[in-house]
Amino acid sequence: MRTLVEIEQGMSTPSPELVADVKQLAGDVMILGVSGKMGVTLAKLLKNAMIENNLDYQVYGVARFSDPASRAELEDYGIQTIAADFLNQSEMEQLPKIKNIIFMVGYKFGATGNEPYTWAVNSYLPGRICEYFKESRIVAFSTGCVYPLVPVNAGAPSEEMAPDPLGEYAQSCLGRERIFEHFSKENGTKVSIFRLNYAIDLKYGVVSELAKTILADEAVDLTMGHVNVIWQKDACEQAIRCLFVASSPANILNITGPETLSVRWISERLGESLNKEVQFIGTEQETALLSNASKSHELFGYPQTTIREMIDITAEWLLNDGATIDKPTHFQERKGKY
Ligand SMILES: NC(=O)c1ccc[n+]([C@@H]2O[C@H](COP(=O)([O-])OP(=O)(O)OC[C@H]3O[C@@H](n4cnc5c(N)ncnc54)[C@H](OP(=O)(O)O)[C@@H]3O)[C@@H](O)[C@H]2O)c1
Repeated sequence: MRTLVEIEQGMSTPSPELVADVKQLAGDVMILGVSGKMGVTLAKLLKNAMIENNLDYQVYGVARFSDPASRAELEDYGIQTIAADFLNQSEMEQLPKIKNIIFMVGYKFGATGNEPYTWAVNSYLPGRICEYFKESRIVAFSTGCVYPLVPVNAGAPSEEMAPDPLGEYAQSCLGRERIFEHFSKENGTKVSIFRLNYAIDLKYGVVSELAKTILADEAVDLTMGHVNVIWQKDACEQAIRCLFVASSPANILNITGPETLSVRWISERLGESLNKEVQFIGTEQETALLSNASKSHELFGYPQTTIREMIDITAEWLLNDGATIDKPTHFQERKGKY
């Protein structure tokens, strides 16, 4: 049985594929929005892959650091942190012009009722980033929410399908993509658009939420009956590797696991691992928010962590009282209101 520390350390141990790709790195990397759910894992993976390659480029991590704990953790890891609010012009313009940028800033939860701020962060800010870092190569995080709900039996949308976002949060995210695409063409900036759904890890995400529901003897809602997920470590590795496939015009990539997963099936497997009866409410609808990530799988290979491993490790984590982040994904949302 692994300890919680060993399980967590596995999240920041880079794969041989990541180490091999990072060898090509030329110059420092700056992660914008480093303090969120994914940024700390991404920064640690990158730092470790650089160490494996004896590269002494700097990794910078920028955020407002609303939670100071993540700043201390990153500094201890050798990441150079900078506190800045990107919506504050003078704070943004103090940032060094770094060659490689990973842009992870976004605003989702609370978007309904706070629409102007949502558009400012998700659609307007990217324009300022593009202008300021026009000589850089940029990986821009986006979301699979830019697609509409699709019939499950028709298969998930790939990048060939035109986006058709549901609700203002998703619309503002398409705005973000379009702005990155525009400036990539206009300025020749090399960009990868990282259209992700859903990253999960030990502490948060679809599988963790389902497990917590089952442990609390609550019923699992089946209305959003199908999902795609990817282990956060695999998603972060692919984000770093997207630096090396950035192009002008922008390279758009769906990022998720290979399976369309049934929420009922995940819950039943979790019930077995947690030794709990699972109760359900509602029935599976014909449509779901899905994404076909075969293009990224062709580039990077399939994500390394399988869904059964994700289920087992999440159950093990929760049964051993591992910490969780109380930030629900609202993956059940069918009207695009977050
Ligand atoms: N996790 C997923 O499954 C998933 C799925 C689809 C898309 N995405 C997108 O992927 C990106 C990364 O995901 P995540 O889960 O790590 O996001 P997150 O937890 O929301 O993190 C967002 C980061 O942006 C920073 N930030 C927000 N506003 C800022 C501002 N004005 N100035 C400076 N920093 C600011 C936040 O830190 P401070 O508050 O400390 O400034 C935080 O570090 C996000 O854009 C998210 O929408 C994630």
